Amino acid sequence: MAVSILATCLPPENWKRLRKSIFTCHLLTRVWLDTDGNTIQAHGGGILYDHKTAKYYWYGENKDGPTYQIHPEGAQRVDIIGVSCYSSEDLWSWTHEGIVLPGERTNITHDLHKSKVLERPKVIYNDRTKQYVMWMHIDDTNYTRASVGVAVSNSPTGTFTYLYSFRPHGFDSRDMTIFKDDDGKAYLFYSSRVNSELHVSPLTEDYLNITSAMRRILVRRFREAPAVFKFQGTYYMITSRCSGWAPNRALAHATHSIMGPWETLGNPCVGGNQFLRVTTFLSQSTFVLPLPGLPGTFIFMADRWNPSNLRDSRYVWLPLSIGGLADEPVDYSFGFPLWPKVSIYWHRKWRLPEGWRKR
Ligand code: GAL
Repeated sequence: MAVSILATCLPPENWKRLRKSIFTCHLLTRVWLDTDGNTIQAHGGGILYDHKTAKYYWYGENKDGPTYQIHPEGAQRVDIIGVSCYSSEDLWSWTHEGIVLPGERTNITHDLHKSKVLERPKVIYNDRTKQYVMWMHIDDTNYTRASVGVAVSNSPTGTFTYLYSFRPHGFDSRDMTIFKDDDGKAYLFYSSRVNSELHVSPLTEDYLNITSAMRRILVRRFREAPAVFKFQGTYYMITSRCSGWAPNRALAHATHSIMGPWETLGNPCVGGNQFLRVTTFLSQSTFVLPLPGLPGTFIFMADRWNPSNLRDSRYVWLPLSIGGLADEPVDYSFGFPLWPKVSIYWHRKWRLPEGWRKR
């Protein structure tokens, strides 16, 4: 397999060569087209299953503009275009539903002005208010604003109304996600204190704000790109280390109580080769989607960023399963509890297993 053969020749510590190989491997990942034949623009995204329309909706950053750098040392960026939405019934063919939260062209003071940063949008449905609620990372060009933004809509396909941004509990907040639990309670997870730790906070009942409760988790671990999921009463999370657009080694975490403490299980990546496993298959986590017909089986969704041309960043979706014993020592030195193993399996090509839909 071309990607693996190329990768094994390269020592992971040699970053100049690694960057080159990332570029070469990147070219080996196919572009994913929507039903109109256009490239899917849904980076840093997440998926909502909508019971009313019986469809999946994929929301993500539309990065279909030129990549540039403001400072030679700063992150490569694309001006805000907005949040794109795609719908699907089979998770394979995606219909573009448009830009459901557009960027702002003229008002430079607006959070969504094109000169700012809008990343990692995630949408959940509120059963009480019947509203679709979107949370996202809002920032300025230099990532110093470090806030979360909130938008709402009566329909999954928008248009979403942007409400406001704020710093949760007064803390800086960069990569983030939201998670809706089985009991209808929802939570915000955000990287804070200059990405050195994560914070978790319950949302208010209407999902439009956070409550006063907050717990610091994975303190001094420098984790970001959180993707939270649940199986048989245990909560799981995949995170990445903080290395900008460059890929790094993922970690899986677990807890019985969503507010923590969370324990670290190790690198969930299985198969491929060492290079692919220490780079999360050259990608960074963004979301984990449960497959309703196959309990314990999920789709791990990740971004294969292309920093020199961000609009050409690709998507890595792989099967994730929970089961078996962990093969790396857990944090917890007494040996208990032993968490089930979280595995993300490398495949160059794969199909959704039969029966993934709920029977
Ligand atoms: C990453 C983060 C991305 C984006 C990028 C900018 O660490 O996960 O969402 O913010 O940095 O360099």
